[in-house]
Amino acid sequence: MRDDTSGKPTAGYGDHYTRQATSRPEAMDAFWMPFSANRQFKAEPRLLTGASGMFYRSVDGREILDATGGLWCCNAGHARPRIVDAVQQQIATLDFAPTFQMGHPLPFTLAERLVAIAPDHLNHVFFTNSGSESVDTALKIALAYHRARGEGHRTRLIGREKGYHGVGFGGISVGGLPNNRKFFGSLLPGVDHLRHTLDLERNAFSRGLPQHGAELAEDLERLVLLHDASTIAAVIVEPVAGSAGVVLPPVGYLQRLREICDKHGILLIFDEVITGFGRIGKAFAAERFGVMPDMITTAKGLTNGCVPMGAVFVSDGIHDAFMRGPDNMIELFHGYTYSGHPLACAAALATLDTYAEEGLFERAIELESYWADAMQALQGLPNVIDTRNLGLIGAIELASRPGAPGARAYDVFTRCFHREDLLIRVTGDVIALSPPLILDREHIDRIFRTLAHVIAETA
Ligand SMILES: Cc1ncc(COP(=O)(O)O)c(C=O)c1O
Repeated sequence: MRDDTSGKPTAGYGDHYTRQATSRPEAMDAFWMPFSANRQFKAEPRLLTGASGMFYRSVDGREILDATGGLWCCNAGHARPRIVDAVQQQIATLDFAPTFQMGHPLPFTLAERLVAIAPDHLNHVFFTNSGSESVDTALKIALAYHRARGEGHRTRLIGREKGYHGVGFGGISVGGLPNNRKFFGSLLPGVDHLRHTLDLERNAFSRGLPQHGAELAEDLERLVLLHDASTIAAVIVEPVAGSAGVVLPPVGYLQRLREICDKHGILLIFDEVITGFGRIGKAFAAERFGVMPDMITTAKGLTNGCVPMGAVFVSDGIHDAFMRGPDNMIELFHGYTYSGHPLACAAALATLDTYAEEGLFERAIELESYWADAMQALQGLPNVIDTRNLGLIGAIELASRPGAPGARAYDVFTRCFHREDLLIRVTGDVIALSPPLILDREHIDRIFRTLAHVIAETA
């Protein structure tokens, strides 16, 4: 290979690529970073150039302990050999194949594997490329399902305050985070929201699920009274909300929500983009809580984060309502060019193997109590006003500095990264933790020792 400008022989493309991927870029202006303070980041970048197991490597060569699973994605840890192999082999064998009126074996095999670990009646899978697409897909299926059965008047969608369902127009409409909505116009019509369940006054420092608040599910009856059940298609909630700073369902809340949905013929969708694939000790939160939704939306842990993919799990009843009419008719006018992409399927299959072989869902349960002890031990530190935990999820809520919401947690975040080689995530003044499920007790000790000391010194 020749360098065009100098005429000198250069290293192969692989070396050239490695250099680009592991050194600080010459310019950072063109990349408009998602959900980031672009100017602040570019002034003091936090660049990651490698990853393995529980650790990232930073551009300056430090090993950073990952307490976030990337972004709630890498439940099996980073660069797991089986997954890497599967993706490498797949790209050399079949790089892309369409799934519109065509097919390749992998999405069929993967869907069968997925329904085998899903709640019993969720026997069909629609593939997407992200959590946002999974959510919009599930909402569209809900609307089209009611129409297919002659109840096209059910057009309302109900979300919940503080909910996060990605960034599509459907997702932000049912979502309940003001900053994700207020800049983007009038959104979908006919959407309403349940009240959220975060209640520090009654539930602060709960170990596991909060005891108080099941009655908040009755808020759905209020919306039914207001709009009439015959207009409501579906309710979507995160069984455990992540992006709002981790909001746990009060004991009995989800059960009650299910009962009210059943009573009024309303579909219940669980958005399990963060809880799916072992995060709280079972394949899905639905199983952990013993509450069966009509659809489950997933992404992230499905491929261990390494190739974008989402999946919507759909009940027999919903799916079968579409399988009518002439055989040559397209039953659902929806799909993505990359639905069931070969690389994503290969990654997902190898990910499921890794989860099963290493017993990672069970591991989250085994470590839950140790994790909970570590969370609870933060009580009493300066500015810590709540801790919330379930499975291997943790949230530490800090009191906001007067007039500067989010600033205190952000300082903890940057200190952890730059000085302590620890990656955490913050939303507002909440520190959210979601480590790979392969972590051990020493990692837990280190995460909490570091956090305790950084929180204590961050005024
Ligand atoms: C519950 C939930 N739904 C949807 C999404 C959106 O997923 P994505 O960013 O892959 O579109 C997320 C992302 O964090 C999420 O937590």
